[in-house]
Amino acid sequence: NTKELSVDDRLTQVCELLMETIPYYDWVGFYFKNGDKEELKLRSFAGEPTDHDIIPFGRGICGQVAVSNENFVVPDVKSQNNYIACSINVKAEIVVPLFVNAENIGQIDIDSHTPDPFSKEDESFLEFVNEKVAEILEK
Ligand code: SME
Repeated sequence: NTKELSVDDRLTQVCELLMETIPYYDWVGFYFKNGDKEELKLRSFAGEPTDHDIIPFGRGICGQVAVSNENFVVPDVKSQNNYIACSINVKAEIVVPLFVNAENIGQIDIDSHTPDPFSKEDESFLEFVNEKVAEILEK
């Protein structure tokens, strides 16, 4: 089958690969800014389905990154007041913005069931992943 995969299928593959490869990545998803609306929309993910497929700007860890344009590493989700719980098993979260032509158009969001698992290496690795995803999106 020589048919090319759609962008959505490729994004799902990225999520699945990351989740299968890295033991402490327990949920991986891509949220994107939803047109002209002040909200994020879940586009692809691997792991348990979430109710939070729409997140208003400013709400939760994801919504804050939509506004700050900066990585957000949360070693302990219980320490965050502005946090949206997707599963009671989640202990930690990392969100890294995705830039296309220097514009923050979305983000990769990862939940972990392990407390305080994310290091600077995860941040640089996920920045690299997002750069590659940006190349897919630009085509
Ligand atoms: N915890 C996120 C919501 C998305 S779920 O992790 C899939 C947040 O606080 O923005």
